Amino acid sequence: MKNKPAVFITRNIPTAALQRILPYAEVEIWDSENPPSIETLLEKAPEIDGIFTLLTDPINSNVVARFRSSFKVISQMAVGIDNIDVGAATKRGIPVGHTPGVLTETTADFTWALLMAIARRIVEGVNEVHQGIWRPWGPEVLLGVDLNGATLGIIGFGRIGQAVARRAQAFNMKVFYHDLNRNSELEQSLGVIYTSLDELIAQSDFVTVHTFLSKETYHLINRAILEKMKPTAILINTSRGPIVSPDDLAWALKEGRIAGAALDVFEPEPIPEGHPLLQMKNVIITPHIASASIQTRTLMAQMAADNLVAALKGERLPNCANPQVYSV
Ligand code: DGY
Repeated sequence: MKNKPAVFITRNIPTAALQRILPYAEVEIWDSENPPSIETLLEKAPEIDGIFTLLTDPINSNVVARFRSSFKVISQMAVGIDNIDVGAATKRGIPVGHTPGVLTETTADFTWALLMAIARRIVEGVNEVHQGIWRPWGPEVLLGVDLNGATLGIIGFGRIGQAVARRAQAFNMKVFYHDLNRNSELEQSLGVIYTSLDELIAQSDFVTVHTFLSKETYHLINRAILEKMKPTAILINTSRGPIVSPDDLAWALKEGRIAGAALDVFEPEPIPEGHPLLQMKNVIITPHIASASIQTRTLMAQMAADNLVAALKGERLPNCANPQVYSV
């Protein structure tokens, strides 16, 4: 009997997803919370037919070059694929799977959780209570800012940016968006206003980032942009860490150029110990958990499993990030 294809899964994944893969592959699972090192990936690459990856796995051109000629698929359990050299994979005709859509609402919810937490100083309040400090109710104790009637600026108006905008309606907010593409239908249906990046930055009380990481968006939020924000404004980032320059953000917060920041992503991850942002009370940092609900992570893993299995069966990936591989 023919051997099943060999698949490397770079972390433990939900059982519901693993069960979809097992009938089609001999599976090796990297049984650790930490990602496999680049050395491990380079060592495994020539031995496998497919790989199930997470966004922490560096699938660079060297790894891609070591896949054998019959290698079938890189299947990523994330919508973002900036850890993968997709160009190198495409050149070799290797499809790259990803998981768009299923994490949209969960990520938008979490963006709002951060937005509300930073606006209303929830983490500061919790920390005080945990430290045994319960200040008497006072007219000026732990004052935050209102969301109701405030202006929200959304940078990047794809699925997640739009889901964030829908939630803003409930808070009676004025919503600006900036994106490479303008969408007048959405402007009508969501009541949002298209602006230039500069105008969005200058007018918004809350600025939330939802773009992909690319050469163009690397450090998009830098000193020049932060200088243009209102001194009362708050920055939220649940997209990719390197879109915000951490040094420039630390400068802006230290100098009082903006009022606060809430970040679920950072450059680098994990955030270096002792980073100045960790000392600031007006900053909330969470460890890249915006899509981390049981339902969503299960769906993401199942979707990645389906992409992987499709390739092993010689079929087109249902969610392929580089469909050009099918046109050659
Ligand atoms: C993604 O899918 O790219 C997200 O960052 C996962 O949380």
